[in-house]
Amino acid sequence: MDRIKSKDTVWAAKVMTPDEAALMIEPGMTLGTSGFTPAGHPKVIPPALARRFKSLSQKSSVNLYTGASVGDELDGELARANAIHRRLPYQTQKDVRKQINDGLICYLDMHLSHVPDQLRYGYLGKLDVAIIEAVGITEKGEIIPSTSVGNVPVFLDEAHKIMIEINTSQPEALEGFHDIYMPQMPPKRKSIPILSSTDRIGSPYYKIDPDKVAAIVYSDVEDSVADFKAPDEMSKWMAQHLISFLENEVKEGRLPAKLRPLQSGVGTTANAVLAGLQASAFKDLHFYSEVIQDSVLHLIDSGTFSFASATSLTLSKQGREHFYGHIKDYRNHVLLRPQEISNHPEVIRRLGIISMNTAIEVDLCGHVNSTNIMGNHMMNGIGGSGDFTRNAALSIFMTPSIAKDGDISAIVPFVSHCDHTEHDVHVVVTEQGVADLRGKCPEEKAFELISKCAHPDYREPLHDYAVKYFRHHHIGHQPSEALSWHARFLKDGSMK
Ligand code: COA
Repeated sequence: MDRIKSKDTVWAAKVMTPDEAALMIEPGMTLGTSGFTPAGHPKVIPPALARRFKSLSQKSSVNLYTGASVGDELDGELARANAIHRRLPYQTQKDVRKQINDGLICYLDMHLSHVPDQLRYGYLGKLDVAIIEAVGITEKGEIIPSTSVGNVPVFLDEAHKIMIEINTSQPEALEGFHDIYMPQMPPKRKSIPILSSTDRIGSPYYKIDPDKVAAIVYSDVEDSVADFKAPDEMSKWMAQHLISFLENEVKEGRLPAKLRPLQSGVGTTANAVLAGLQASAFKDLHFYSEVIQDSVLHLIDSGTFSFASATSLTLSKQGREHFYGHIKDYRNHVLLRPQEISNHPEVIRRLGIISMNTAIEVDLCGHVNSTNIMGNHMMNGIGGSGDFTRNAALSIFMTPSIAKDGDISAIVPFVSHCDHTEHDVHVVVTEQGVADLRGKCPEEKAFELISKCAHPDYREPLHDYAVKYFRHHHIGHQPSEALSWHARFLKDGSMK
């Protein structure tokens, strides 16, 4: 109870067990929860809800809206109880992914910055319950957020009822790391006054109406962030190419010595590239992104980054121990914002962000597929990659040039699914090199991608295709030949 500092008895009166809280959630409801890239999601009410729904005689499910991917206690428990009907805007959990691909979960793969407005405008229906993780409640009755912010501000505003999980494994010292700001509804919406990654424009707390609080539950379950694979040779090469490219941009006067704020995507490749930056001569950089992973802490420690603004602290157990052990030192270097602000097009444009995301495949025009393997198997979702790519001053995609032990080329004539169009993609990096697509027409882009980024095993057939359909044409695709490419290069013609 010592995490509830307010003397107002309204709070203490709402304290109950997770099972009691779960009894208030009915099948068919829409839940909006905290959580972003398995950090800061509720961890004890969802398993209680899964138990409750499993015990009911009829199939029972809810619509689940989150910030981004969430941990097994939420996505996994509910999916295994067949309790998710509709899911948005992003996921990475294997049971959820399988049910999406089997057509059992109705999945809305959305730009992360679009969720709050689509909810406010009523496109996503009414929100029945917001379930959020918090560190505590202040004397003034304000809520201290935990390791992520995500969509919590809009969920608290829109939900009919609020449930709070106070997680005692998250230290009270997290108080003050957050900057909560909500844009007004149009036509009263003003410009967002962020002129630098370091600017604070809101409050460190969530302010809520206590009458909306239906339950307060205690939890001590830690965030469980999976360790990244150690960078492999391919990732190390990509990191080196990227750093040389950025150094050259500085030399050519297109970027300042301290670059512009960097955004980095998720996954093994992105993590390896960030790790590679540590070996570079860059210092004092700003990071304006979604997720602060362990590698970002190392970059702050080494002076490569002087500030990191994001919406979640996605740290491994070791990373958390390091962060909490030196939390005072990080106080002036780390800030967590709502995803609506971390991913806001206006701020991304104003700051001139350099975005670095990972592609599954890239085609000869420069279209990028980030989500659907072979156009028919959802991997994770677009996440924030579109928010950043479309609005960045310099948008970069990275991918190994081959996948599945070389059975398929990541550079293809035509992507099997398109997330980012040729109009938004400036630079592509593979372990082979860097293709600079800026200022180039489709024919020039095609030959740049083949010569700089394609694997040598695939250069000749790609070159033949480009000569046939890009030379003497603007874009002259032969659709059946373009899309047969994927099956042609897989030994058994199907996904492994
Ligand atoms: N064809 C077929 N399969 C491919 C492929 C291709 N061209 N490229 C990758 N794959 C497969 C890999 O073999 C691997 O399969 P496995 O799980 O069976 O081993 C899987 O896709 C993931 O590839 P991996 O190399 O482990 O990628 P990663 O961890 O670096 O993640 C993305 C890559 C694209 C899936 C990931 O970055 C993502 O989800 N991006 C979209 C969201 C995003 O960018 N968010 C950040 C915004 S801030």
